[in-house]
Amino acid sequence: MKIERGIFVTGTGTGVGKTVVSALLVATLRKQSPVVYWKPVQTGIERDCDTSAVKALAGCDPSEIHEAGIRLKRPLSPHLAARLEGVSITVKDITDLAENGPKTEFWIVEGAGGVLVPLNENELMIDLIIELGLPSIVVSSTGLGTINHSLLTIDCIRSRGGEVAGVVMNGEPNRENSSAISDYGKVTILAEVPVLRPLTAGAIAKAAGKMDFGLI
Ligand SMILES: Nc1ncnc2c1ncn2[C@@H]1O[C@H](COP(=O)(O)OP(=O)(O)OP(=O)(O)O)[C@@H](O)[C@H]1O
Ligand SMILES: [Mg+2]
Repeated sequence: MKIERGIFVTGTGTGVGKTVVSALLVATLRKQSPVVYWKPVQTGIERDCDTSAVKALAGCDPSEIHEAGIRLKRPLSPHLAARLEGVSITVKDITDLAENGPKTEFWIVEGAGGVLVPLNENELMIDLIIELGLPSIVVSSTGLGTINHSLLTIDCIRSRGGEVAGVVMNGEPNRENSSAISDYGKVTILAEVPVLRPLTAGAIAKAAGKMDFGLI
């Protein structure tokens, strides 16, 4: 099942800032179009809930959240968290959960970890991205190591026939790293997100006021 309008927020790995960037996307893009945030697969649900984080950070109305999703207890890769709960998840299970979602809204779909995270024995997060048919945003840290991680991620998405809408750099500004990713990856840097301290709904709203991801 394809989603008509939207973006898949992936990144170079776990903890790189996908949820913070998703909240910023919600806060920025809702000025142009109704939006809906969706976290299809959440592991470590007892400790982490990206949906709640986005609700709080972007001050979401219930209509801006698609709640359906695979929710797994352990904070592990989805394939392992699922196996330890005695369940198996497939790309089809996940895409079916989008069927009852809103039709005309712009979807902001947040992955789990990076593009090669396994969902089961033979499907990876990239298979979900391709099946949903959405262009990807790659969230990359600004720090050392990011050039390699970012270029690998971009290459993976493109080699599977996916579209990279652009990269969002997250963290202390680093011009050299941004321009290396843009040049070597032949990719647009959509935004540079500074460290927001404290990370509050107010800080997200203020940052969103200065951003235009150029997606809609
Ligand atoms: N720009 C930022 N300013 C302040 N804190 C940030 C920023 N980006 C990320 N963080 C913090 O870093 C941590 C990881 O960020 P986030 O949860 O957005 O990563 P993620 O890629 O969504 O992780 P996961 O793979 O678990 O979904 C969080 O505690 C978040 O508060
Ligand atoms: Mg997250």
